[in-house]
Amino acid sequence: MTFDRSIKIAPSILASDFANFGAEIRAVEAEGADWIHVDVMDGHFVPNLTFGPDTCRAIRPHIKTVMDVHLMIAPVDPYVEAFASAGADIITAHVEAGPHIHRTLQAIRGAGAKAGVALNPGTPADAVAHVIDMVDLICVMTVNPGFGGQSFIDMTGKVRALRDMIGDRPVHIEIDGGVTPVTAPLVAAAGADVLVAGSAVFNGGSVENPAPYGENIRAIRAAAQSA
Ligand code: DX5
Ligand code: ZN
Repeated sequence: MTFDRSIKIAPSILASDFANFGAEIRAVEAEGADWIHVDVMDGHFVPNLTFGPDTCRAIRPHIKTVMDVHLMIAPVDPYVEAFASAGADIITAHVEAGPHIHRTLQAIRGAGAKAGVALNPGTPADAVAHVIDMVDLICVMTVNPGFGGQSFIDMTGKVRALRDMIGDRPVHIEIDGGVTPVTAPLVAAAGADVLVAGSAVFNGGSVENPAPYGENIRAIRAAAQSA
């Protein structure tokens, strides 16, 4: 993975057909996805359950781009090695998931993955100031995590603060939740480069009819690039 700040669209398979992850991933990549965003939920840190490292390992061969694993679980540390060995390129942990985010980020890089840190809407940018040199990505949640299809919560002030904090460091700013062609320009203008989108990518298409995936991806990208 080489670093750049161009706009990247990362479809979340949370909004895809859970019985058909392999084909859904191949379809969105063929239609222009830059990364694949994988939402892991534990029914404890967030009020919903998805899947764990075995599913990540199973879908890995279908991903040609970047496997971006978003852990909405607590605790994180006992599972870092399992997600890294499942083939995650990036593993993102929430700063709110435990008292030792510094240790968690060390463990992620130690396991050979890129390290991400995520911030819930109620958590200030300052919460990552002392781990900024330990991360490859900061994920700004623009919904309260747990479900797809929620409305965007404006976090552009936080994104700007993080962009200033990052300076020249090779750290991505990722936006997760409620990204659409309407909201994408707001966060892109504030300094975000990775846009996760679930419903706004998968709406209207299917594995049998993937063209809408491409139209949706292009619409989000064009809106972000116009910012
Ligand atoms: C929310 C997840 C998101 C979600 C985004 O808890 O982390 O990645 O899939 O879905 P949309 O784009 O539908 O808001
Ligand atoms: Zn996510």
